[in-house]
Amino acid sequence: MSTGKKTLHSPGKINLYLSIGEKRADGFHALESIFAALDFADFLAFSLFPGNEGTTNLTIEETGPLLELSQKGQHFPLLPTEKNIIYLASQLFRSKTGFKTNLNIELKKVIPPGSGLGGGSSNAAATLLALNELAGGPTGRLSGEELLDLAAQLGSDVPFFVEIGLQSGKKSPARSVSGRGEVLSFLPPPPPYGILLAFPGFASSTSAAFGFLDKNRLDSAKKTKPAFLAAQEFSWDFPEKWGFINDFQELFVQCGSAREKESYRNILADLKKAGASFTGLSGSGSCCFGIFPAMEEAARAESELGGAFYVLKSTFFLRDS
Ligand code: C5P
Repeated sequence: MSTGKKTLHSPGKINLYLSIGEKRADGFHALESIFAALDFADFLAFSLFPGNEGTTNLTIEETGPLLELSQKGQHFPLLPTEKNIIYLASQLFRSKTGFKTNLNIELKKVIPPGSGLGGGSSNAAATLLALNELAGGPTGRLSGEELLDLAAQLGSDVPFFVEIGLQSGKKSPARSVSGRGEVLSFLPPPPPYGILLAFPGFASSTSAAFGFLDKNRLDSAKKTKPAFLAAQEFSWDFPEKWGFINDFQELFVQCGSAREKESYRNILADLKKAGASFTGLSGSGSCCFGIFPAMEEAARAESELGGAFYVLKSTFFLRDS
């Protein structure tokens, strides 16, 4: 057993590219994507307390600029503990390992739920990684492969965050991703670009977005897509030339609700006007982002665009600390 305490940052991510393929027999969609983890993160504290009743207490404090709009009731309400993915991750870990020591988990929630920034998936991954360390010892500790297997049971994006946390000797916050989201290939670490997140203050449900995509496949998306970049062909240089698409972005901008169309069109245009080299929607929304040559430029755009109907937060790709 370790000292019984563990604190972790639980990073968000953006998808630079997201191409959705056919619905598979298991109900999930084949996809191809580029994921990159951000410095923008939730914060989790785990502490064991005496007793082996298998109790897991979870307390959540919502905070930070992107949740300002959300706190007016425009995001998904917090789920009861037993449905929270952090709790589900701890239960899955307990049932796999037999680890029963009582546990308190405190979450400082900064990443808005339903924003496409992967907050819930990242929280689940952090929980697996923290519990694995806290349980320690010959009976408790799982291999990286076993953790990745548990991660895939919790959600399609969870393995990415587990792998970023494990790093297995390869230090990079970015992966090209396929399968239903769980097949990961290494990408070289990104340059110190600035990133400006723009959150429109409403949440987007992933399962609803996939259902909407199935019903409204755009003709353009049915056509042959550019071949997915093999990891070795990928370059971080010249973001203005990336040309990456996000099928959800094209869908919502063209066929979404009036609010989606207006918000995404305006935000993406504002980010471009403010000097972003590349703009996109993360995942199935609702957070948009702009890539800037350096952090100072993202921060300048943040103050230039401040006061609009959306909330901004400048950040950068996760780096080794
Ligand atoms: O895996 P995760 O729990 O994050 O997925 C949420 C929902 O998004 C799934 O229930 C499914 O409806 C949809 N999804 C999908 N194909 C994927 C990932 C997610 O259809 N590759």
